[in-house]
Amino acid sequence: MSASSAATPATGYLTPTRQVRIADLRAKKATGDKWAMLTAYDYSTARALSQGGVECLLVGDSAANVVFGYSQTQQISLDEMIYLAAAVVRGAGNALVIADLPFGTYEASDEQAVLSASEMMRRSGAAMVKIEGGVRIVPRIRALVAAGIPVCAHIGFTPQSVNALSGFKVQGRGDAADRLLADIHAVADAGADMVVLEMVPAEVAARATAEVEISTVGIGAGPDTDAQVLVWHDIAAFPADGHRPKFAKQWAQVGADLTAAAASYRREVAEGTFPAQEHCF
Ligand code: KIV
Repeated sequence: MSASSAATPATGYLTPTRQVRIADLRAKKATGDKWAMLTAYDYSTARALSQGGVECLLVGDSAANVVFGYSQTQQISLDEMIYLAAAVVRGAGNALVIADLPFGTYEASDEQAVLSASEMMRRSGAAMVKIEGGVRIVPRIRALVAAGIPVCAHIGFTPQSVNALSGFKVQGRGDAADRLLADIHAVADAGADMVVLEMVPAEVAARATAEVEISTVGIGAGPDTDAQVLVWHDIAAFPADGHRPKFAKQWAQVGADLTAAAASYRREVAEGTFPAQEHCF
């Protein structure tokens, strides 16, 4: 291997590798190769995360909180999600893009789910939609799959049901483990290609992963799922004073760096040292 190829990342936006497909992720389950998903909500961040080799980008409805500043996930609309997803797709490079269908856009009927998902895919170019629920959303998954729309299910703690679940609580503990296992089998049998397991005891997630053929993507679900997902703000400590969940680790301090950059810029403008000669025409 030459020195220059050793410095080239194996995957990512800059290398001419082909688009990540659902079949590639399925193959990774068979070989036991783990893969990574991060949320993204805009073009530039999607580019940066894809350049890091992350296989999958999720346009999560966590955008409600981290992009729009709403107090609840349920407040974001389908239109708002579609604009963000379209921008992510434009910057995603080789990464597979999944988009959340927001609260209120798929629960009423199979027809509503297919119309919302088609609108999302047509206008954004996302490759898959994510919907929350297990046994209770089986008819929706079947309807979407029948319409040719790949589905990622989301079970365990489901943020769109935060009120019904009485807050942010670990799901699937004790006797509830059987319910979680029933949920994962139900979404797999209905035709979902992937399932997010959120805030689930590690041993329950490990058992669920071993029992189904579809890829499991953990968030607060221990190390034994097929893949991991995190909100990018949580891996980058952005903003610096944001709340960080117990299951997230910070690999960068983007919030603190950005605040320091803004302070330096403001100071140099006030002092008259910016712009300098080299910034002038
Ligand atoms: O909306 C979101 O970001 C999500 C992830 C936390 C899995 O659903």
